[in-house]
Amino acid sequence: MLSILASFIAYWRSTNDCNSKTGVPTYPMKAIRYCEYGSADVLKLQNVEKPVPNDDQVLVKVRATSLNAFDAGVIRDLWLVRLFFGLRKPRDTRLGQDVAGTVEAVGKDVTQFKPGDEVFGLCRGGLAEYTCSRERALATKPPNVSVEQAASIPLAGLVALQGLREGKIQPGQKVLINGATGGVGTFAVQIAKSLGAEVTAVCSTRNVDLVRSIGADHIIDYTKEDFTKSDQRYDVIFDNVCNHSFSERRQVLTPKGICVLVGIGGAGVTGGQAIGRIANNFTARGLSSFTNQKFALYGIKTTKEDLIMLGDLVESGKLSPVIERTYKLSEAAEAMRYLSEGHARGKIVLTVP
Ligand SMILES: NC(=O)c1ccc[n+]([C@@H]2O[C@H](COP(=O)([O-])OP(=O)(O)OC[C@H]3O[C@@H](n4cnc5c(N)ncnc54)[C@H](OP(=O)(O)O)[C@@H]3O)[C@@H](O)[C@H]2O)c1
Repeated sequence: MLSILASFIAYWRSTNDCNSKTGVPTYPMKAIRYCEYGSADVLKLQNVEKPVPNDDQVLVKVRATSLNAFDAGVIRDLWLVRLFFGLRKPRDTRLGQDVAGTVEAVGKDVTQFKPGDEVFGLCRGGLAEYTCSRERALATKPPNVSVEQAASIPLAGLVALQGLREGKIQPGQKVLINGATGGVGTFAVQIAKSLGAEVTAVCSTRNVDLVRSIGADHIIDYTKEDFTKSDQRYDVIFDNVCNHSFSERRQVLTPKGICVLVGIGGAGVTGGQAIGRIANNFTARGLSSFTNQKFALYGIKTTKEDLIMLGDLVESGKLSPVIERTYKLSEAAEAMRYLSEGHARGKIVLTVP
């Protein structure tokens, strides 16, 4: 009777990651899980079940992953987060949107990948030894791109590329990137330059040299100067921060200019700031339909072709991911603590031994 009870408990623990403990038999992989909301301390390295790919999915042995502002947002104990991600506790305890690694197995409908292929792309639960991705969310990793570089590209690179596309940039146009030195911003500055734009980067004093090194033509230090108070006019504002009002940004847009509303300020924003900026973005989007200037709300699209394009840009040296720090998977809480301060330069990558 006792042995039946013991094996039931072991089975129950094995199906519920948050209850797994070292010592309970046969957990085939390690992964970071967050089973409650809070600070970076809620990230725990656990022994969990290895995921099994669906018919259209690829099982990837993770070699590197990276953190995004999204990951810092979903773990926070805010009512808005609870509303969307689980009222009492997180519904999905996995973390991590980016992956670079080796294909371990494929579902029966997968045609473009086979075991052994080196890939990178988007996933759910990249902070783990294995993760599953849909076939269309992955691309082949170019041989000359390191796994760390590949893991830094997917979410931030796609947001930068697709967000700038919303701005319909033409060569010679003036483009302002607000929030130029985070994960998304460092890709956006370089991609806007490669599209032939004249780029103005908005950043803090300590990052002036960084944005210059990645190609910004002009730099505005937001601790000393408010870009909305300048006489300059921009064809496109790529706004990662959205900390100015509709009318303030209109004043620095050309008469038919486009402001792409990308985000609300990265990993360091407070709950109050986040809610205020979300409301601000919807208001700006609504009001702009009465003007010739456009305020576009941007949302990421999972596009294999864009991943391939980003990989090719990195391989050819036209795009160089900025990776400030690299941690081990087991140091995820420390990495998240640093990202959550809101001033990471470029990307924070985690490698999986
Ligand atoms: N729409 C979508 O589908 C989508 C998808 C992913 C991400 N996003 C959004 O994209 C945004 C950027 O993400 P991320 O990963 O790049 O974040 P991040 O790495 O945390 O970077 C945030 C950047 O904001 C800068 N910053 C902070 N306060 C600023 C201010 N007052 N003025 C100008 N810059 C300021 C910081 O630079 P300093 O250190 O110099 O202060 C930092 O470089 C986030 O808001 C995120 O939510 C949107």
